[in-house]
Amino acid sequence: MRKKIIAGNWKMNLTHSEGISLFSEIVNMVKDEKNGNQTVVICPPFIHINSLVQLSNGIVKIGAQNCHEALNGAFTGEISAKMIQSTGAEFVIIGHSERRQYFNESDELLTKKTISALQNNLTPLFCIGESLEQRNNGTYFEVLKNQLKALTAHLDATDFTKVVIAYEPIWAIGTGLTASAAQAQEVHAFIRSTLAEAYGEEIANQTSILYGGSCNAQNAAELFAQKDIDGGLIGGASLKSRDFTDIVKAFNF
Ligand code: 13P
Repeated sequence: MRKKIIAGNWKMNLTHSEGISLFSEIVNMVKDEKNGNQTVVICPPFIHINSLVQLSNGIVKIGAQNCHEALNGAFTGEISAKMIQSTGAEFVIIGHSERRQYFNESDELLTKKTISALQNNLTPLFCIGESLEQRNNGTYFEVLKNQLKALTAHLDATDFTKVVIAYEPIWAIGTGLTASAAQAQEVHAFIRSTLAEAYGEEIANQTSILYGGSCNAQNAAELFAQKDIDGGLIGGASLKSRDFTDIVKAFNF
């Protein structure tokens, strides 16, 4: 059975004390709502990670939002997968569109980061997604396929089974515009068929594919009811304990 995952991406928000208080609320609320089939993850800014791991009680897992591809060295300001893993965090977001766009992270670099995450026992939440222009000019399937292939060409099947894919259409991130359930399902099925070409049906069917992009308490249930949607990567709504918990609740089946 595929893992159902609800992950919150706090992005560059919240001071350390605000992060602790929001996370404490989330742990308290989620523990009554989550069932055994769900994995709930919060990805805070790096400086919060260590404190939140201590407060997580195994109820909510912790992830980072990025990692450097090297293990250590003279890379001022960077954090490695090994360092993240040493805190007790278990996940790392890789290839978020904000990193691809604002920090010029290439497919090649993202593959290196993914490999480093896997070597350090972190689960990569590997993001792909098309821009509004690519959606409108009909090239989005090709764009998504190329983003996926850039990764799958360098990962063997055993390694790939540890990767989670997140489909985040750029036009739906932080805009209040959401892909309709039918649009999201269409792309998720396409992602799964592309993975089947690379690794076969069995592995494709085991891969969790999350939807991200203005997912909220109102639209989550319909999105999660789609056959190929295995959870969500939640931005804005993960900054409110009630909204985030309602999203977890929407997937409690
Ligand atoms: P929003 O949910 O705020 O649209 O952000 C989605 C996202 O980028 C999650 O990584």
